Formats: sequence, structure tokens, C-alpha cells
Amino acid sequence: MSKEKDTSKLWGGRFNEATDAFVQRFTASVGFDLRMAAQDIEGSLAHARMLRSVDVLTPAELEDIEGGLAQIQKEIDEGNFQWSIELEDVHMNIEARLTALIGVAGKKLHTGRSRNDQVATDIRLYLRAAIDSIAGELTRLQQGTIDLAAAHTTTIMPGFTHLQTAQPVVFGHHLLAWNEMLERDYGRLMDCRARLNQSPLGAAALAGTTYPIDRAHTAAALGFDKPTENSLDSVSDRDFAIEFCAFAALLMTHLSRMSEELVLWSSAQFNFIELPDRFCTGSSIMPQKKNPDVPELVRGKVGRVNGHLIALLTLMKSQPLAYNKDNQEDKEPLFDTIDTVFDSLRAYADMVPAIKPKAEVMHEAARRGFSTATDLADYLVRLGLPFRDAHEVVGKAVAHGIECGKDLSDMTLTTLQNFCADIREDVFEVLTLEGSVTARNHLGGTAPDQVTEAALRARSTVQARQAS
Ligand code: ARG
Repeated sequence: MSKEKDTSKLWGGRFNEATDAFVQRFTASVGFDLRMAAQDIEGSLAHARMLRSVDVLTPAELEDIEGGLAQIQKEIDEGNFQWSIELEDVHMNIEARLTALIGVAGKKLHTGRSRNDQVATDIRLYLRAAIDSIAGELTRLQQGTIDLAAAHTTTIMPGFTHLQTAQPVVFGHHLLAWNEMLERDYGRLMDCRARLNQSPLGAAALAGTTYPIDRAHTAAALGFDKPTENSLDSVSDRDFAIEFCAFAALLMTHLSRMSEELVLWSSAQFNFIELPDRFCTGSSIMPQKKNPDVPELVRGKVGRVNGHLIALLTLMKSQPLAYNKDNQEDKEPLFDTIDTVFDSLRAYADMVPAIKPKAEVMHEAARRGFSTATDLADYLVRLGLPFRDAHEVVGKAVAHGIECGKDLSDMTLTTLQNFCADIREDVFEVLTLEGSVTARNHLGGTAPDQVTEAALRARSTVQARQAS
């Protein structure tokens, strides 16, 4: 390989030999950062207009730059842009093309900035747009979940602890529990967006610049709330990417828990729900199979998202201020996290409204597991027994039920009176599943009226978000 000086490099001035070909590939990021091209152009436009406003560029130079960048965007959109690894990254590819197109004005664009503040700006812009699309899908999933919940405020299913039948709940209550998790995720996403939305542009390489730049001008033009405070921090900070990945890890954990339930519920053993065929696949060998692939894959994808969070934390942990090339490693984990979260939410937002609960099967399952045993204990407490004694009495009744294969509500009054003589006919009101759920009639409880109200509140929370 020729070691002669390479004149194509934008930083080649102080170098006497060409970059090693392998090193060139090893250090290049254009293979993955080209996806920030639109943000890079947007940032350059804002920077150029600001330079014009402080008289660093002439009107003609700005006009050339605007025309050249528009042309470049067009070439990229049409797939005609020649990306080159020799130009290392998205920033230098675009700048070199601009100079090729418009000549000397192109070389002036980089006045008063550095790739360090440029890349920091691009990632923030890119992630902000991604957050907005993800927020849209998350909202769509919440709407579907809340609608399904509102349609099932009286559909009774067993509630579980330790995956053992515990007490009956309504299906809508379970779905609204999912929504609570998602609502917190939404809040975390918005917190991340708020902290992200500041402009690092103008920090230049690390210390600021000697030109009379107007950082508030570029910040406003790019839709940032304000410029960042400190130039060293501006070029080195990747907290926003870590925060996003932390949001993502927790969201994916929630989707994974939901997936686990969908997988269980759609099994022949539970048989609580039917997942629509279009979200499942068959087996190439077992003709009877309908596999819940979408929930399974989402559950599986938590692994990579958790991994990306750890990757970014580890990437940052030993970096001295300010910018280090290490930071180039931030993009692939971040981009993959964005893609994974968006696709998982999209799949879920499409799938959840199409879930068909099997009300009779759920009801029967709730009846089978002595799920109203606590209700009987509470009944005995109302008759005057201390709770611990009531617990003991009901335990004996359940043991008898297991022995003879009968639910508490299937036993005769006389049988029940063998365990506590004070029991009266009205006990059957609390032993029914309907009686059991209706009795839990307080904020946060599973009574159908409460669940109806909770669904209304959840819906208005989500709607208020869209109005704002
Ligand atoms: N490709 C680089 C990155 O992703 C851009 C910034 C390069 N800056 C530098 N001083 N080498 O971080």
C-alpha cells in the first residue's frame, strides 16, 4: 500500500503519510452514522444561518451553502450520494461533497464549530425525533390497552400470586395494571426528552470558539429549549443516550412481562386468550401448533436492549473530559435500541387490541382455584372471628374441598357450618366470583365500577397528552 500523503482528508494538513487502509476502516463510522445525515444537514443549515447573522458569512456564501446542502439532501434521498469510507463519517462526507459542489463557501461552513459539537448536536436531534415516534407508538399501545380494559370490566379471571390462583379479578383490571407500567415509561421518556433538548452547538472542539457566535440563535433554530451551559460538558456528555437506554430497558422489561403472560395465557393449559393468527406462526413439523412468536420475540429482545444500556454506561465510565473517540461507539447501541423499542411497540400496539379473551374459560379457572377463600375469611371476620382464626377455619374448608374435589361455593350450607357454626345462607353472596370482585370497591380495587372509572381516568390522561 502506498504510504504517500493523502490529500482527500479534511484534516490531512499535519500528516506525512496516508492512513493505513485497515485503520481507515477501523476508525470510520460512516457505515452507521449516515443515518444522521438529515440531522447533520439541519444542524449545518442552522450553523450557517447563524454565521451569516453575525457577519462571518456573506449573503452569497450562505446562499451557496443552502443550495449545496439542499442538493446533497436530494442526492441522499434519491440514493445517489456516494458515501466514502476515506471520509470517515457522515459529517466529513457531507462537508466534502458540499465543497465539491459549491467550492470555497463549502470550506467556510466549518468556521466556529468542530465535529465534536456537530456530532453531539446530530445525535440529540436524531434521538429527539426517535423519542417522538416512540412516544406515538407507546401512546397507541396504551390506547389499545385501555380500550380493551374498558370492554372487560366484568370479565372475571383468576388473579395470581406466585402464579398460583389467588383471588378473582376482572380482566380489565389486569390490563390497566399493564397500562400503569406503560404510563410510567411514558413519563420517563418525556423526562429524558426534556433533559436532552438543549443545544451543544457552539462548544466547538471543547473550549468554545473565537468567532462571535450566537448560540441562542442556533438553539432556537433547531427547536432546542436553550444552549447547553458548559462547552467541555457539551461535547462529552452522552447522558441523554444512557437515559434513553435506561428508559428502553425498563419499557422492554415491561413488554417482556406482558409477553410472558400472553404466552402463558395462549397455551392449551391456560387457554385464557386467543391471539390473532396474524401475530403467530406455525410449526414446520407439528401441524397443530400456533406459536406466539411476537410476544416471544419481544421477550427475547430485552436481552439486547439491556446489553446496550450496559455498553453505554461502560463506554462512558472512564472517559476524561472532554471528547474522546470512544464516543463514536455510542451510536450502534443507541440506534439498535431505538429500532428495537420502536418495532416492539409497533407490534404490541397492533396486537393488543386484537387479543380475544375467552371469558368462560377464565371464569371457570377462577372458580377452580378456591379464589374466594379470602372472601370467606373476611365474612367470618365480619361475624366476629379474629382474622387468624378465620384463616384457620377457611384453611380446613379448603382442605376438605381439595379432598372431595369441590370449590367452596359448591359446598352445602351444612357442610360449611361444620367448619363454623355461625355461617349463614348469605355466605354464598361472597363465595361467588362476582360477589368477590364487586366487594373490592375502593380506589385501585378490582370492582367493575372501580375499573370502569380507572379506565376513564387512564383514557383522559392519554388524551390530555395528545392535546398538549
Ligand atoms: N465520528 C465521530 C463520532 O462519532 C465524530 C466526531 C469526531 N471527532 C473527532 N475529534 N475525531 O464521535
